[in-house]
Amino acid sequence: MGAIGKIDEQFMNKIVIAIDGFSSTGKSTIAKLLAKKLNYIYVDTGAMYRAVTYFAIQEGLIGADFFHVDRLINCLDEISISFKFNKDLGFAEVYLNGKNIENAIRTLKVSKFVSPVAAISEVRHKLVQQQQLMGKDKGIVMDGRDIGTVVFPDAELKIFMTASAETRANRRFKELLERGHNLSYNDVLENVTTRDRIDSTREDSPLVKAHDAIEIDNSDLTIEAQLNTIIKLVEDRI
Ligand code: DC
Repeated sequence: MGAIGKIDEQFMNKIVIAIDGFSSTGKSTIAKLLAKKLNYIYVDTGAMYRAVTYFAIQEGLIGADFFHVDRLINCLDEISISFKFNKDLGFAEVYLNGKNIENAIRTLKVSKFVSPVAAISEVRHKLVQQQQLMGKDKGIVMDGRDIGTVVFPDAELKIFMTASAETRANRRFKELLERGHNLSYNDVLENVTTRDRIDSTREDSPLVKAHDAIEIDNSDLTIEAQLNTIIKLVEDRI
């Protein structure tokens, strides 16, 4: 077979991998490693919802006791989200209107407001359109809450990650401490469980396991074990 044939074959074999699940189940860790191994694009869709939330906070549209939903909806055209690959980090960082906000969106403040923002249909519509465009050529690993159900219902491989709330809060707590945030484990646990509740019960695209998704409970699994399991599933499908 000539070189063109080989390229065609490679392109045709590329698949879409959707990784959904509850907050802090380690989706992005696995998705990043998987994308690296397969030479696929990785897209963290949670970062996109966090970017809109960050915008809303900066513009004074959301706070402890107020949320100007209509004003945020009217501002959506002013929000441009993009990703730029950072060679040193080995993954793409998220930008809001040209500004790198990769670290700024990982605070507990953004985590507190992100679920109400992600429940707005107009926000979801805008971001889902962009996500579908990013995956149109396949060869993509995308993680989120609605990837296998709404964004790519025909994805060749769908994974649904779970773990106990305590395991997840512990992981997120350690991660935030390492990033230099000063907070308590209970605050993190409360945030994780509240987000799960809002994300699973919202009207538009709630977090549910797709009927054809493969569930992985990683409470007691190493990252290596999870990756090996998923690689085998990928090999079956390619
Ligand atoms: O993956 P994450 O924890 O960074 O996501 C932040 C929030 O964004 C999450 O609580 C729910 C929302 N989200 C969503 O509604 N749909 C997605 N595809 C990804 C995230």
